[in-house]
Formats: sequence, C-alpha cells, structure tokens
Amino acid sequence: MRILVIGSGGREHALVWKIAQSKLVDKIFSAPGNAGIAKLAECLEIKADDIHALLDFARREKIDLTVVGPEAPLARGIVNEFSRYKLRIFGPAKEAARLESSKVFAKELMAKYNVPTANFGVFDEPEEAKRYIQKIGAPCVVKADGLAAGKGVIVSKTIDEARQAVKSIMEDRIFGDSGKQVVVEECLEGKEASIIVLTDSKEVICLPSSQDHKRAFDGDTGPNTGGMGAYSPAPIVTPKLFKEILEKIIYRILDGLVRQGIVYKGVLYAGIMLTEDGPKVLEFNVRFGDPETQAILPRLKSDLLEVMLATTEGKLSRYKNLNWDGRACVCVVCASQGYPGEYEKGKEIFGLDEVEKMQDVVVFHAATKKQDKRILTNGGRVLGVTGLGNTLKEAIKRTYQAVEKIHFAGMHYRKDIGYKAINKG
Ligand code: AMP
Ligand code: GLY
Repeated sequence: MRILVIGSGGREHALVWKIAQSKLVDKIFSAPGNAGIAKLAECLEIKADDIHALLDFARREKIDLTVVGPEAPLARGIVNEFSRYKLRIFGPAKEAARLESSKVFAKELMAKYNVPTANFGVFDEPEEAKRYIQKIGAPCVVKADGLAAGKGVIVSKTIDEARQAVKSIMEDRIFGDSGKQVVVEECLEGKEASIIVLTDSKEVICLPSSQDHKRAFDGDTGPNTGGMGAYSPAPIVTPKLFKEILEKIIYRILDGLVRQGIVYKGVLYAGIMLTEDGPKVLEFNVRFGDPETQAILPRLKSDLLEVMLATTEGKLSRYKNLNWDGRACVCVVCASQGYPGEYEKGKEIFGLDEVEKMQDVVVFHAATKKQDKRILTNGGRVLGVTGLGNTLKEAIKRTYQAVEKIHFAGMHYRKDIGYKAINKG
C-alpha cells in the first residue's frame, strides 16, 4: 500500500515509524515531514494545511491511505474533500473535528449529554465575559473558541489577569477570528491524564493512558509549551478510573455526536483532570497527542496500519483489543534555547548516531532538517528521545542516558519527565 502521512512533528515521525513496520506497506510519503521522517518516507514540499495540493498528490499518486497528524487540516475539512474523491483518509470529518476546533461546540455538547467538565459560560461580548468573571471569581480559565496553535487557553490566577485575557482574545484578537467567542470556566484542580481512543463511531478501542508535561521547566514551572515530555502508562489512571472515564466521558460524547447526526471516525483524545469529584474533561482533541503518541506507539505490538484501515472502513469491531508491550515508555523533548518563546534555528545536532546504537531507544524528530550530511534544528521542539524499560524507573533512566549523548547549542530539556508517576503524582 501507498501511505501519505500529513505533518512534520514528533507525533508524525512516531506514526511513520510505526506504520513503516506494517507488512502492508510498500511506500510512505510525508507532507512535509522532517529529517527523521525522511529516513523512512519520501518527504514532499507540501504544507500540512494545503488541502488542494495534498488532494492532487493523493489522486495522482494513487495513495491508499492518508493519515492526518495535526488538527488544522481536519478542522478545514480535508477528510470531507478526500472522501468526495473516494480517497481513504484517517481522521474525523470537519463537523466532528469541531470537538477541537470550537471550544464552544465542545462545551455545549458536553453540557447537553452530561459529560463531566468544568462549569462554564459562553460569551460573544467582552463586557459580559468580564461580568461573569467578576461573578465566579479567580482563579478561572479563559479560552478562545477556535484553534490557536495550543495557546488559546489562559489559566488566570486573578480577576485582573482573566479580564486581561478576555481583552487580548476578544478585543485585541491575538488569535484572530478564533477569539470571536470565549469560554470562561472554573479552574479545576487535580492531576492531568490523557486518554486516547480509536473509534469508527460504533466501536471504541483504547490506547493505554499517558501523561504529558506541559510546562517548560522542572517541577511544572515556567510557561506552557506544546509538551516537554510524556510517559505511558500513567499509573494514576487505575483500571477503575479508566472504566469511569470511558463510561462517563468517551461513550457519552460519542453517543452525543451520533444523536447530533455526526459520525466520528478516527482518533479521539480526551485531556482529563482527575478531580476530587471524579474525572472531568479539560479538552477534546481530534488527533493523536504530541508528545503522548511518541510514548505510546513504541508499546504497540499490533499493526497500526491495519487498525487504521479498519477504522476508516467502520470495521473496528474486528479488533476487540490491540496487543501492547507491558513495559513503560518515556519520551523526553529536547527543545531550542528560548522555546516556547523566541528561538534560533539551524544549530547542528550531534550524537544521534551514537544513540541509534542503543537498544530500546528511538529518537523521534520534531523539527529537524538535513543540510549536506548534517542534521540541523528547525523549530522549538527539536527531538523526542524515547526509551522503553521494564519499569517506569528503568525507562526514565534509559531515556536520559540517551538524552545525555545528544547535544546542540542551547538545547534544553526537563530533567523530571515521569517522576510524578514514581512519586504517585
Ligand atoms: P488545552 O490547550 O485546552 O490543552 O489547555 C491547556 C492546559 O490548560 C491544560 O492541559 C490544563 O493544564 C489547563 N486547563 C485547561 N482548562 C482548565 C481548567 N478548567 N482548569 C484548570 N486547568 C485548565
Ligand atoms: N499533548 C497535548 C496535545 O497534543 O494537545
């Protein structure tokens, strides 16, 4: 089969790496890919959200399955476009992708179908949003309705901060039209976990739990990032809790979508806060998590491509379960100096060959490019160094041994990825 994977981050490298292990694969393309992906796939000079160019390519090259990594093309309806030409594509259609592309839609659906989430209000007038903030007090959370490259959520410690967030989003329009409406919600307390499932709208297959590390620095301090590391499984999600999350969150939201006449096919990600009152949804994403995917897929023994095909064909019931490696997996992100603020690109990366010789370690590239024989940094999150171990402790040790062999000017990474789970956090 000829496969096209859309995207250029660590998540997409992990997807390509896993798909490449399938017996069904003849050739993989990636648009646009990166230097790591280029070892396994032919990289194309097509941007991930250039739907027309992607469609032309898939038709011309007779692609058997397209896998969409990031949310932007899904929100813009790439699945609807491909489906019109009977091209097989993995991911939800535009209407279903609203679960991520409109926080207002997601929150209203959750309220309607009794999916536990933070209490909230929806506003299209800044003054009304500010009055609501005054009423509920701080801390509270202000969220731009639309996509904002992961930056549209502002957790505010004071009323002033929250009012300022409303001003930036709605009046100054720092996220453009994504800020026409806002959701203001109560601030939840607890530990976070990510639950990711595959669904064809009838069946649900769960991937193991995982946990991201959103803040830039050790001890969950510093600014929010796209994710500085992840591990799987997350022991905090006990089997009992997993069942509760499935029943009260995953099944209810999918059932709600069906009742709205929306078919959801693809991967569904629930960001969960484990509160004293039980698990509550922070957000839904309509794609694989990044960097959670990097910590989950090395544990998958089954053929990912087969199960993705079954998802697109509505035949997921063939797979009651997937086969998982019982070991733990950890992914540590190596980032550029300054990230998530401003950073420079083009620094040469050393040590990758050395790490390639290590067992049970794989380096997923998140933003790299090749120049002559050198691999250079090409973005904020550069690499996701990933290791397996019999225990989480072992996986952490192995992963950091690998991280220490790699360097580039200004490289920074968190030194405490996974420690929360060892300390039962
Ligand atoms: P998101 O971009 O929606 O993943 O949100 C980013 C982060 O904001 C989440 O991972 C949480 O840490 C935090 N967050 C979002 N909503 C809430 C909430 N209601 N209470 C507390 N933290 C939240
Ligand atoms: N790891 C968070 C996300 O993928 O949105």
